[in-house]
Amino acid sequence: MTAKDQAAPLRELARNQRPADRPGPPLPGAVADQLTSLAVVSGKGGVGKSLLTLNLGLALSDLGLRVCGLDADLGMANLDTLLGITPRRGLPEVVRGEASLEDALVRVEEGFLLLPGCSGIAELTELSPSRYERLRTELGKLVRLSDYLLVDCSAGASPSTLRLAGAADQLILVTTPEPTALVDAYSFLKILLSTRPTSRIHLVINLARSYEEGTSTYQRLSSVIGRHLGVSATLLGVVPRSRGVDRAVRTQRPLLRLAPSDPAAVAIRQMAARLSGKSLTRRGGFLSRLFG
Ligand SMILES: Nc1ncnc2c1ncn2[C@@H]1O[C@H](COP(=O)(O)OP(=O)(O)OP(=O)(O)O)[C@@H](O)[C@H]1O
Ligand SMILES: [Mg+2]
Repeated sequence: MTAKDQAAPLRELARNQRPADRPGPPLPGAVADQLTSLAVVSGKGGVGKSLLTLNLGLALSDLGLRVCGLDADLGMANLDTLLGITPRRGLPEVVRGEASLEDALVRVEEGFLLLPGCSGIAELTELSPSRYERLRTELGKLVRLSDYLLVDCSAGASPSTLRLAGAADQLILVTTPEPTALVDAYSFLKILLSTRPTSRIHLVINLARSYEEGTSTYQRLSSVIGRHLGVSATLLGVVPRSRGVDRAVRTQRPLLRLAPSDPAAVAIRQMAARLSGKSLTRRGGFLSRLFG
């Protein structure tokens, strides 16, 4: 491909947007019967991966699914900060053999476990064979503990993120409508696909000023991805910019619990329903609502 050809998809992404149709029906084959792993990734940083990992995890657990969040942002882990907790152990201790998976997991809520991260551990690709094997064994235990594993990755195409994204069953690529974020999302996917085939790709358009802006952004990005990278990407959801998110970050409480009817929270719950194939119901069962 010439340099001119390579710039074509990027120019296309930075062009003005046209309104688009609403997204299609629920994703096929979405009911989980074993551990489904999802890597939450982005090109540009600060587009909402951690917000999404945490709240999508809680939304899936509200649907009765067992979820584990893995904070794999090795540079700047922060799911614990978003929750206002200070874990004593996490991924680094598991890697070093100082804690088992069970010791390091934090039960955030019934149905939602967190394996905290910690800044400053080496790239996963640089672990010694024994540490790598230990990590594989410990993470293997998640199969019986969870239905979904959501992996919050660092932004960009670092070796660890490429490894995690390549290993996950499905990819959630988060972007905003900004041209810079779109170009970076495209570049990330291009790098990932050049190293390993990737299975199902979901796009999340965060910080949208309107639903239409979100869907037209999706149409543009997915068509460029389809034409230039030869893969299809489904729209998992559009998350609006919302004040509730700011408040949740400042008060260190999950958006879904602080402001369940905030538009961003509603959008994330709809994503959980699409992903799992389960319909949205109220929290708890009939008996707990009747007697609780
Ligand atoms: N829908 C939204 N509405 C309002 N603010 C938002 C929204 N999504 C994200 N933000 C803001 O953007 C900030 C970054 O979000 P978050 O930490 O989830 O991004 P990230 O992709 O995980 O970042 P990093 O690449 O640094 O890991 C949040 O602290 C929040 O203030
Ligand atoms: Mg993050």
